[in-house]
Amino acid sequence: MNLLLLIYLISSVTFIVGLKMLSHPDTARRGNLVAAAGMTLAIAGTIFLYEEDDTRLGNYGWIFGGLLLGTIVGTLAAKRVKMTAMPEMVSLFNGMGGACAALISIVEFNHHFAHAEYIVSGVGALLLIIVIGLIIGSVSFAGSMVAWGKLNGSVKDYSFKGQQIVSALILLVIAGLSVYIIIAVPDNIFLFFYAILVLSLVYGIFFVLPIGGADMPVVISLLNSFTGVAAACGGFLYNNQVMLTGGILVGAAGTLLTILMCKAMNRSLLNVLLGSWGGGGAAGSSTDSAAGHTKEISITDAAVVMSYAGKVMIVPGYGLAVAQAQHVCHELEKLLEEKGVTVKYAIHPVAGRMPGHMNVLLAEADVNYESLIEMEEANNEFSTTDVVLVLGANDVVNPAAKTDPASPIYGMPILEVEQSKLVIVNKRSMKPGYAGIENMLFFQPKTSMLFGDAKSVLQKLVTEIKAL
Ligand code: TAP
Repeated sequence: MNLLLLIYLISSVTFIVGLKMLSHPDTARRGNLVAAAGMTLAIAGTIFLYEEDDTRLGNYGWIFGGLLLGTIVGTLAAKRVKMTAMPEMVSLFNGMGGACAALISIVEFNHHFAHAEYIVSGVGALLLIIVIGLIIGSVSFAGSMVAWGKLNGSVKDYSFKGQQIVSALILLVIAGLSVYIIIAVPDNIFLFFYAILVLSLVYGIFFVLPIGGADMPVVISLLNSFTGVAAACGGFLYNNQVMLTGGILVGAAGTLLTILMCKAMNRSLLNVLLGSWGGGGAAGSSTDSAAGHTKEISITDAAVVMSYAGKVMIVPGYGLAVAQAQHVCHELEKLLEEKGVTVKYAIHPVAGRMPGHMNVLLAEADVNYESLIEMEEANNEFSTTDVVLVLGANDVVNPAAKTDPASPIYGMPILEVEQSKLVIVNKRSMKPGYAGIENMLFFQPKTSMLFGDAKSVLQKLVTEIKAL
């Protein structure tokens, strides 16, 4: 068997095994390393063993220069990134993947069609793969760049009347031009090819620009799957099996993740793409509303009720990540356990802003994974819980999801914290969360608000409990 093929097979297996290992926190880190080792093997194999017309790649200076540069930039970016900025970085890296796929199409187009005499009939299949890679790669690149800009605040949501019609028209023109050049292979094919490139970039921008900034994680996951498909096209072009497998895995994983996120939010993908909600945060910040009054609890009282409770359930949310309060939260948990209190974390599947956000956040602080329980199990346990401490979570505990058919989150499964004896909610104000809607939980008689930044509130709670 050809050595390079064997390397590609081994690499493909490492991708699949690595992906499987990513599904559990205990094995996730190793899974990442396994897949990365497979990728290194595939790259090395291609550089040193790939042959075309009995010629190896050569160009080692450029190749290793690029690898070195990419490694330095990637390592620094990954080391420096804050947890809350992860979706931003994923978006940027994904955009680079899309750009690579589009560049491959451009290079291969020029390679095969540089001279008019090369343009013969029967190149349709080749051209089809090149054009698909170009379109999907460019859309993914442009869309991911806009998503990156939105997440770091440099690009604002923008839409104009009839934008969806304009977008649909652009897509139609792209499809029409593609079919035309593949079937007719016209003399001025270059012109059409680059027109498709420009239109795809414009479409990518229009596709993401109107979507609510907070819906970006779903869109990024979708764009990620696009990049996978574009990379798989590269696999077809070069008859490179590992590129094909890798691309298909990314495409499939991205699609599944997109579907799962939409399901957990009880929204259709169309609803996310049309941007009907998300990006909220502007609504009222008073402690009184038509819904009634909230009542507050002092740090001392909160410390006392938790210390003398039998069971405390912590509900972490986006605010805990923003405050970077995971370490002090773990300290509080240990303190309470020393006092004989059972402490568990109730994890909602879309708490935070990215899949598994809370799991990763708490793992960072070495919280025992066994203390984390999933939504269904948590909902069965709330009735036997004395105190629920909601830390920077809002939508995932909003009862409107069950009780108000008019609510945009109606139907989304939530953590039913109100079944416990007492609910303490920590957040900084009465501002809404991601969905931009009021939360009636805060006005219920069982609920007490503990206002303040999660980190400083938890630090005070720890000091108070230590003094008891
Ligand atoms: P949110 O509903 O967004 O609420 C977070 C709350 O944290 C806010 O109400 C905010 O209130 C508070 N907060 C912010 N900074 C804080 C700080 N420093 N200290 C204390 N509190 C702070 O969060 P959630 O309950 O985790 O729900 C997640 C939402 O994101 C859901 O609607 C979900 O559908 C959506 N979403 C999730 C994902 C994934 S995959 N996880 C992807 C896309 C969308 P104050 O400003 O008053 O402090």
